[in-house]
Amino acid sequence: MEKLVIKGPTSLKGEVTISGAKNAAVAILPATLLIDGICTIENLPNISDIKISCEILEKLGAKITWNDKNSITIDTTNITTTQAPLDLTSKFRASYYIIGSMLGRKGEIEVGMPGGCKLGARPIDQHIKGFESLGAEVTVEKGTIHAKAKKLKGTSIYMDVVSVGATINVMLASVLAKGTTTIDNAAKEPHIVDVANFLNTMGADIRGAGTDVIKINGVEKLHGNATYSVVPDQIEAGTFMLAAVATKGDILIKNCITKHLESVTAKILEIGGNVEDNGDSIRVWCNKRPGKANIKTLPYPGFPTDLQPQMGVVLSIANGTSIINESIWESRFQYTDELNKMGAKITAQGKTAFFEGVKKLYGAPVYSTDLRAGAALVIAGTLAEGTTEVYNLEHIDRGYENIEGKFRALGAKIERVTE
Ligand code: UD1
Repeated sequence: MEKLVIKGPTSLKGEVTISGAKNAAVAILPATLLIDGICTIENLPNISDIKISCEILEKLGAKITWNDKNSITIDTTNITTTQAPLDLTSKFRASYYIIGSMLGRKGEIEVGMPGGCKLGARPIDQHIKGFESLGAEVTVEKGTIHAKAKKLKGTSIYMDVVSVGATINVMLASVLAKGTTTIDNAAKEPHIVDVANFLNTMGADIRGAGTDVIKINGVEKLHGNATYSVVPDQIEAGTFMLAAVATKGDILIKNCITKHLESVTAKILEIGGNVEDNGDSIRVWCNKRPGKANIKTLPYPGFPTDLQPQMGVVLSIANGTSIINESIWESRFQYTDELNKMGAKITAQGKTAFFEGVKKLYGAPVYSTDLRAGAALVIAGTLAEGTTEVYNLEHIDRGYENIEGKFRALGAKIERVTE
């Protein structure tokens, strides 16, 4: 078993370069199934979710060549089966994008129910509603989803909830459908724009991604023969912004799109941190104890739920009592029990948590309960006095490339140890 051993406290100082966005990359890889040809994808984060995505594509018949640790060339000319490997697809959430892509490419797919972080109920009714509106038949039996369509036909789909996954999945299924598909009440996250840009580069006709109405004019074929670079990860960038504030540090975060970070920037300024926006890099520093704040997580451009635990660490040591209202996921406060082991005073009740700020956290053995919770615990271990051991690293490794290397380069005393 591996653990991260962190000796604190350290103020993080220096520069960090952000990797490609996990949530864009895990959609772009299955999107390559819509191409009858070859393409190259660069700026892929080197994380376990990407490795599993590649394995799934290979099992479906794709040929993948790794150009370096962040770039692949993928040939999807011969897709040989419509059965995705159930064991692999159940390992992470975004495996559901195989459904939209394979419906478009082959008109059929059998796939395991998606896995991923345990954040409470994670229904996929809006995905299914979208596929059915396009003319597919979808059955869910014994943990397996079977989707089938003779020919998908463009239509208008209203999303009952703002869902990143359903928006992307319906977009994927519509690219090669006959006629025009309109998605109303679409999610607007940067990775939705990135997936649309990727597909358009390959010959799709998608308009309005990044707004709440997306129009997809079906095309006959995607041509491939192009190179695409994944957008920088705004959640990783936000993680380092909040790490700078939490540790009273000074970090220059390079390779990010600062426009994607406006909600985080606003909250950091509100609690007394400093932010210098350089367009493609952002410097965040803080030389005093942060102030309290109230936060509600919301779909983009609101404060992202995926930065809620990292913000929770900052508020756990803030001056005063803060409240976080988690409006996206029902069980996203499991990390607060771990922070309380380190001396925090947090009371979570349902979707609301109260953070009575303490002056210091103290090192303790703690367990990542999900991906972003894991990152939050690494920040907490860095600012805490004494030794913190973070367990359950498989969560962190799903979404952060070389987290210990990046923290170490900023001065943290952090080691990965095998027990
Ligand atoms: C994506 C992100 C995840 C992030 C989340 C919200 C990926 C791979 N994961 O997850 O990191 O936390 O967006 O920003 O991109 N819902 C339904 N029915 C559906 C689909 C969703 O009711 O069919 C609800 C969910 O329960 C949740 C809300 O809609 O309350 C948002 O979920 P959604 O945006 O779909 O999240 P994911 O795409 O799974």
